[in-house]
Amino acid sequence: MHMYARLLGPADAGEIDRLFRDGTGALFVWTPREAAGVEASMAALKDLLTGLAPQDTFPGLDRLRADRQSFWLASRGLGTPFTPDPAFLESLDGDPAGGRRGAAFLHGNPQAGADLETLKESLDRALALSAAEVGIPRSWYPALTVRYRVIRYAPLRRRSAGIGMHPDGSVLSALVTDRPGLTLWRDAGTAVQPARDGTLVLPGSILHRWSEGRYDPTFHRVEVGRDAEPKFSMVAFLNFPDRSGIPRRGGTTAGRVFPNDVQACKEDDMDRGGGHWQRFAGPRPATEPRPATGPRSAAGPANALRAG
Ligand SMILES: [Fe+2]
Repeated sequence: MHMYARLLGPADAGEIDRLFRDGTGALFVWTPREAAGVEASMAALKDLLTGLAPQDTFPGLDRLRADRQSFWLASRGLGTPFTPDPAFLESLDGDPAGGRRGAAFLHGNPQAGADLETLKESLDRALALSAAEVGIPRSWYPALTVRYRVIRYAPLRRRSAGIGMHPDGSVLSALVTDRPGLTLWRDAGTAVQPARDGTLVLPGSILHRWSEGRYDPTFHRVEVGRDAEPKFSMVAFLNFPDRSGIPRRGGTTAGRVFPNDVQACKEDDMDRGGGHWQRFAGPRPATEPRPATGPRSAAGPANALRAG
């Protein structure tokens, strides 16, 4: 069983459904022309990131942490330009400081705009192909959100560092990177380091919940050594509108709505971490996070999207 496919474009997209049902990723291999553009843009952005202060990372299930220089940007809609509105950046799940760094980075480095667009185009194209394949109607694309994290791993203070094993709290995640370090797991005994000559798309834990278990999330981990060359990544997290009711995959009848709450899903993912979900011999998770408590749940589900 391979962990990812080398997909070349829409003609091969039928394989995505099978891969994501297995909790594996899909690699959309770049053309030589695209590879040249992506690699030049990654190198230019990595250079600019050296000026940012290192931040501690999210520890993951195995508590691995890293120093990384990063910021993030976001789009309202899939395949639309970056949204420059700082209030929107701060409203998305977690880390408003990262969104403020993104707005400041764009302001202070206008020459980086073209490189960010080059990478965004590759990420968005892979996300759009994958989203269509898992049953997300194209009419929803303008209402989706995409958060883009731009990272230079700078293991300055630790012998080895990275981001501990986790599934992404997204519908789908897409990634471009220039160095090794990412490992994907299928189960405790099967791991793979994916190739880096394409854009990798991974199914996330919200896709698992929305699809009522049809798709499994890919557990993954990033590790970089202290003496290794700094590693660059740009990751795009595709999500449904947060704290909204989302019609289930394949259409819906009244009441068949997924109550999307990104933060509650992420917390639930980590609470389940001890068993590593079913692929790590733990119990299969329920398809819903536990109900959120406090003011977040007060908003309640409201239909933000029409059934496709
Ligand atoms: Fe991740």
